[in-house]
This record gives sequence, C-alpha cells and structure tokens, in this order.
Amino acid sequence: MKALAISGSAKKGGNTSFMLKTVLEGLEKDGIQTELIELADEEVKSCTACYNCFKNKNNKCIIKDDNINLYIQKMIEADIIILGSPVYLVDITPKLIAFMERCGMVSIANKYLLKRKIGAGIVVRYRRAGAIHGLDSINHFFLVEQMIVVGSNYLNIGIGRGSEATNLADSEVDEEGIKTMIDLAHNISWLVKEKYQ
Ligand SMILES: Cc1cc2nc3c(=O)[nH]c(=O)nc-3n(C[C@H](O)[C@H](O)[C@H](O)COP(=O)(O)O)c2cc1C
Repeated sequence: MKALAISGSAKKGGNTSFMLKTVLEGLEKDGIQTELIELADEEVKSCTACYNCFKNKNNKCIIKDDNINLYIQKMIEADIIILGSPVYLVDITPKLIAFMERCGMVSIANKYLLKRKIGAGIVVRYRRAGAIHGLDSINHFFLVEQMIVVGSNYLNIGIGRGSEATNLADSEVDEEGIKTMIDLAHNISWLVKEKYQ
C-alpha cells in the first residue's frame, strides 16, 4: 500500500509541505508506505493540447523535458494520491494545475489510469479567500479521474503566513489545521482497510 503526495508550492519545506507531511506521518503509523514530491525546484510544463496521449496510448505525455512521465508512473503504482497547494491569488498554484492537466489527460487517454484510486487534496492559505476554491479545484480533478475522494472533520485547509521572513513552516502552530490533517490520515487508513481487506 503506497501513498504519493505532491506539493505544488514554490517553497520547499514550507506550510504546504508541513501539512502534507502531517498526513503522511499519520498514514505511516498505519503501515502505509509514503513518498513526498515537492515540485518547487522543477519546471512543470503546461499541456500543449497536442492530444498525442490519445493517439499513442502508452501511459506517457509526449513532452519529455520535465519529470511528468516519472510522476505518472509513480501515480500508477500508488494507491493513494494526495495533492497539496498553497493559495496563490485565490486559487492553487499554476504548477499544480499544469501537473494535473498533464497527468490527468494521460490518465484519461489510457482508460483512466487513476480510476478508483484514493484521492485527497489539501490547501494552505494565509488571507481570507481562495482556500475553498483551491480545494474544489483539486477535488474536481479527482472526480473527473473517477477517484474516490476522502474528507476530514472539516475542509482540508491549513493556515500559514508564508514565512517570508523565517523560511520556516509557521503552519506548525495551526492546531486546527494539524488536527484536520491527522483525521484525514485516519479516514484514508480506514478506507484502505475497507477497500482492500
Ligand atoms: C503569489 C502569492 C499569492 C498568494 N495569494 C494568496 C491568496 O490569494 N489568499 C491567501 O489566503 N493567501 C495567499 N498567499 C499566501 C500563501 O497561500 C500562504 O502564505 C501559504 O501558507 C504559503 O504556503 P507555502 O509555505 O507552502 O509556500 C499568496 C502567496 C503568494 C506567494
């Protein structure tokens, strides 16, 4: 059983990464293998609408100069996919959107590679707006891919200032957000047991 988490934050080790790690630690306690990929230092190209994935049907995107094909393979091998993003101007980051476009189209072109995998989104915000909208964007991806979406005791949203000054994850003090992530892990573990045992 494997969980793959992807952070679309521009910052490595920031608030998004902290909240994703909180979920992954919960899953590890229940015996689930985990991996976190932070896209911060990588370029992720947008879909070019070439539709070669529908022509080739080889589980791959034709764009080869980034890591998307590696990540598609990792998603195929994972049972649980967790996507995380900070809110950037009232939505998720362009990097995570590009990631979802490319992986999502390849999945659909190949008879829904992600179908019935477990999916959970998390979003981290600082100001008043954008978190619910961002979480909806991630959940819409899961729904279009025919995945099974898991929730928590409240929406999977953390709060962090962005740590411009310290470069540390200040969401570490967001107790409600942390509890939400821990309960999300419990719910994913429960579903895994129901689904596979
Ligand atoms: C370009 C940019 C735009 C942002 N826009 C918003 C916003 O619209 N709403 C909000 O609540 N926070 C916004 N933020 C703040 C981040 O979402 C917040 O600081 C988050 O905790 C950063 O997560 P990170 O540490 O993973 O980068 C913005 C931050 C940046 C860099």
